[in-house]
Amino acid sequence: MKTVESLREVAHSRGLVVGACVNADALRIDPHYAAVLSREFSSITPENALKFGPLSPQPGKYNFSDADALMAFAERHNMAVRGHVLIWHRQLPDWLTRSKPDKKELTRVLINHVRTVVGRYAGRIATWDVVNEAVAPNGRPRNSIWWRVIGPDYVRIAFEAAHEADPRALLFYNDFGIEAPPAQLDAILALLAQLRTQAPIHGIGMQMHLRLADGARVKGLTRRVTQAASLDLKVHITELDVRLPIKTQPSSSDLEEQAAIFGNIVKIGLATPQCDNVTFWGVTDRYSWIPHVFPGKGAALLFDAEYGMKPGYHAVKDVLQLGHLR
Ligand code: XIL
Repeated sequence: MKTVESLREVAHSRGLVVGACVNADALRIDPHYAAVLSREFSSITPENALKFGPLSPQPGKYNFSDADALMAFAERHNMAVRGHVLIWHRQLPDWLTRSKPDKKELTRVLINHVRTVVGRYAGRIATWDVVNEAVAPNGRPRNSIWWRVIGPDYVRIAFEAAHEADPRALLFYNDFGIEAPPAQLDAILALLAQLRTQAPIHGIGMQMHLRLADGARVKGLTRRVTQAASLDLKVHITELDVRLPIKTQPSSSDLEEQAAIFGNIVKIGLATPQCDNVTFWGVTDRYSWIPHVFPGKGAALLFDAEYGMKPGYHAVKDVLQLGHLR
């Protein structure tokens, strides 16, 4: 009898890794979640467990229990881990934002943090998002505590510290904006072109939190991924989801349109030699971040809240198996 292949199996045969971000609470309490995650995906990105705030409730103290649990799960199921994220302007510890550190102190905190976290998982987490969202949508440097207090050099300092802590790790810069007007991506690419001459950086992560309206711009998306790859950096699609307007249920035409977008993004991934990982920002609509942050929107992932496979799931599989959408 021919068994149905999972997404991770068909992706593997095309040289692509398909990943999902993982919610540590869901993994703990929901056996169905764990089963679908390990069956269908071959890479995990901790959704929040490796962020500075959740990890470090007090200065110099770390609580790695969620991150360790995700790590153990990944290793048990032969999955890669994308370490997300070392330096970001969100989800920072209260003690840090309250303490108003000066440049010297904040630089020390940054280096210590990067060393502690990367060092703990050295040799086990092969890929890190070292810096997230350093460029604002208008192309200017993002006005974060890091930029204000340390200055633009904080990006280089973070990459150097990560490299020292694990010289084998692949180090990524991660951001959104690929689907937005060009100012942001242009500024990101300029930043990375310069950073490449100063520090160890190996890839660019493109988040891709999309709306249906972004689907019309697949050509533009292709061009922008190619542009990023031309810097001689690896490209990962790191946080793919396509949010739908929802009242009770998503409409079937919206689900089809969403499926086409998912399929097209995976197609771009396959056509880009520098891209070997496409990660969805979640497994199931049941735990997606979208309804919490975009009111009235949801149903953004491959599996519905009851773990039913949506049209998007089949579209991604078709592209991986047949090379095109059915
Ligand atoms: C989101 C998580 O999904 C939420 O659970 C959390 O409350 C906020 O952060 N860009 C990123 C991710 O790089 O880390 C964010 O994740 C989504 C946007």
